[in-house]
Amino acid sequence: MILSKAAEEKMTRAKYPSLSAHSMAGAAAMMPHVGMNLEHNSKTWTIIKTLASGPFSEVFEAMDADTREHFAMKTEKEVGTIRPVLKLDVFVLRMLQSRNPIGFPRIYDAGRTDNFKYVVMQLVGPDLSKLRRSLPDKKFSLITALRVCAQTLDRIETLHDMGWLCRDIKAPNFAIGLGDEAGIVFMLDFGFARRFIDNNGNHVRPRAAAAILGTIHYAPIASHYGREQSRRDDLESWFYMCVELVAGPLPWSHLDSRRQHQLICECKQFARKGGRHQFLKDCPLEFSDILSMIDSLKYYDRPNYRLISAQIEKAIDRLKLDRYAPFDWQVDNGKILERAAVIGDLGESHLLSVKLREARKKLEATEPIDIST
Ligand SMILES: Nc1ncnc2c1ncn2[C@@H]1O[C@H](COP(=O)(O)OP(=O)(O)OP(=O)(O)O)[C@@H](O)[C@H]1O
Ligand SMILES: [Mg+2]
Repeated sequence: MILSKAAEEKMTRAKYPSLSAHSMAGAAAMMPHVGMNLEHNSKTWTIIKTLASGPFSEVFEAMDADTREHFAMKTEKEVGTIRPVLKLDVFVLRMLQSRNPIGFPRIYDAGRTDNFKYVVMQLVGPDLSKLRRSLPDKKFSLITALRVCAQTLDRIETLHDMGWLCRDIKAPNFAIGLGDEAGIVFMLDFGFARRFIDNNGNHVRPRAAAAILGTIHYAPIASHYGREQSRRDDLESWFYMCVELVAGPLPWSHLDSRRQHQLICECKQFARKGGRHQFLKDCPLEFSDILSMIDSLKYYDRPNYRLISAQIEKAIDRLKLDRYAPFDWQVDNGKILERAAVIGDLGESHLLSVKLREARKKLEATEPIDIST
């Protein structure tokens, strides 16, 4: 859900009806905004641009006032956030950073004011959703898509091998690097992560019921039924993302994630049965084998990431694609990157059970902007 400033003001008014226009303006000045200088640990961060904006968190481009280097600053409101996630996001990124793996943004600072929490991290380029929607046919060339699929699978393997699930795999949560790193796909957003290895190194047992979370269009079928997720479920979401990268919008992308989540689940089930051929018609043949591998995984299984990657490599070889070709965003003098920098956000993470309730209360106050598949 994306709120305009006016809608946000309406929400604040609904929550605090006695606020005067003056105190509203005061409250707004305390929230992170373009032009704000944030001082912390003898550093000053100047917020210079909004990169992504949601009702509870915003991502900005910020500058170190001393060095003038640019970073990303993700912020989260202290009040009114249904499920605070920034702390977890920072925890997982810090844990990853200790191993220095490729394709995860580095963290430089984290702190809080009375009104919001923030983390300063490596600035990366546009996310995969914005990139895809910036392309003429809203889809990547096959070789770019397949190489991105392989890289995102590697990131997920790294996260899993450190004992964590993502539970929100989707194109907006991966972005390309900047400059020399434009060929590297970065994994962002660990706000729904969950540790699946306990302190004794054992896989945690499934809970009887788990909240539906993540982003409904990419959610694994297990999540629609309120079942605990495991590594196979991250791969199921990864697979939906890959089909979208290769073939364009998913068959259920036009359905409403709140009102039609059951129908979305049925579409996913149909994509395994009678609808399989239609679902995968624009993907390499190997995608059917990959889907079978993922669907055969049991709750405790470690996916065979190498075997899945090998299927992607097999498709590249069989179709005689040039695996060293530049990526789509590296061949058009930066036009795609330019478009991707201004295109709107798409795809919202849900804690559906909570958000459904919340949405009913607040829907009148919201004015969604943008967004096409
Ligand atoms: N380090 C970064 N550099 C550049 N852009 C970023 C960075 N981190 C996040 N973004 C942008 O901000 C968007 C939202 O970030 P993120 O997914 O971390 O936040 P979120 O509030 O948890 O989003 P959602 O709930 O919609 O998944 C990303 O899709 C990406 O476009
Ligand atoms: Mg996200």
